[in-house]
Amino acid sequence: MAEELIINDNLSKEKKYQELYPQIFALIQGEDDIIASISNMMSALKYSFNWLWVGVYFVKNSELVLGPFQGSIACTRIQLGRGVSGTAWHKKETIIVPDVNKFPDHIICNAASKSEIVIPVFNKQGEVALILDVDSNQLNSFDKIDEEYLSKIINLIVPFL
Ligand code: SME
Repeated sequence: MAEELIINDNLSKEKKYQELYPQIFALIQGEDDIIASISNMMSALKYSFNWLWVGVYFVKNSELVLGPFQGSIACTRIQLGRGVSGTAWHKKETIIVPDVNKFPDHIICNAASKSEIVIPVFNKQGEVALILDVDSNQLNSFDKIDEEYLSKIINLIVPFL
């Protein structure tokens, strides 16, 4: 396992993701503990992009329950259909929110959060098993490039679900 990530901050966002992806791939190779792998993934994302909060919530019974994350303390449980995360789970689709104050049911875990992306991850049965939630302290931080690469990265853990 590599001991540190090598990320060039001067690159475009897409190029940064392209540098990061194989490093995250290598980081989780040979590790079959899903919590260990997701934990390192969250750290790699947080420190590569300096986002406000990066983490996952697992679907457990009828709720989302907080999993490994990087950032300040967060809501521990979110109901189906509630907030951006619960809505992405309910609709089974990625949601990009350019301005969280304009999302009708946004759950405020951290008042500094301004924009957000939530990506659902599906198990082999096609059910949502967890969601990736990334928050930024800037408006309009996320677009199709983030959706594409974050989805590719978080889906590396599907074989372990
Ligand atoms: N803002 C989220 C809640 C989770 S946190 O941002 C960590 C939402 O509305 O789903």
